[in-house]
Amino acid sequence: MSESNNIFSEFDRMLGRDAKESQLKQKGHVFWLYGLSGSGKSTIADKVERSLVAKGHYIKLLDGDNVRTGLNKDLGFTDADRSENIRRIAEVARLFLDAGFVVITSFISPLKEYRDLAESIIGEGDFTKVYINASFSTCSERDVKGLYAKAKKGAVSHFTGKDSLFEAPSDSDEDWILDTEQFSASESTEELVNKILPIIKKI
Ligand code: ADX
Repeated sequence: MSESNNIFSEFDRMLGRDAKESQLKQKGHVFWLYGLSGSGKSTIADKVERSLVAKGHYIKLLDGDNVRTGLNKDLGFTDADRSENIRRIAEVARLFLDAGFVVITSFISPLKEYRDLAESIIGEGDFTKVYINASFSTCSERDVKGLYAKAKKGAVSHFTGKDSLFEAPSDSDEDWILDTEQFSASESTEELVNKILPIIKKI
């Protein structure tokens, strides 16, 4: 029997999310940006955060820089590690959500299964997936981090889109889609901010 059986949740006794949201004058929500490495997730997430903070919102941005170098530094890129990466991020996002924050995450989240796991942890009504769409060949041309060149030489194991699967959303998914091949980062940011604002507005 695991030790966690002796842990009793005190959520009922704790000051609720509603009180925090009223103080922050916003509605908490998690916007889960996903897509290939180099698709533009981090750039857009950063710009969206700046824009929303400038409008007076309280935002927590979670991305590889602040998660894979700290909380998840023990994890690599096998299927099991990616799944655990996403699970922990979703749990952290949920904690910020409980504090009334708007959370923006920026992780490849390559499989639908991982995105579904995140949604099950966070809750359907509080969770919106945003697919940052750019093809493998476009990301490979951009190659901001030089990783695609390394992967081509076989120097990166489990590289997403090459030896590790990336599942784009299917037609039946209701994920928002931003196309960074067609639109600039500023255009995509503006579109996303305009879609986010009505959702985080406190009624
Ligand atoms: S995820 O698949 O678990 O969601 P995550 O977004 O945290 O991935 O990390 C992806 C980042 O790690 C990439 O943007 C890239 O900088 C780096 N990286 C290192 N190795 C790999 C790899 N094998 N596949 C993809 N990205 C990698």
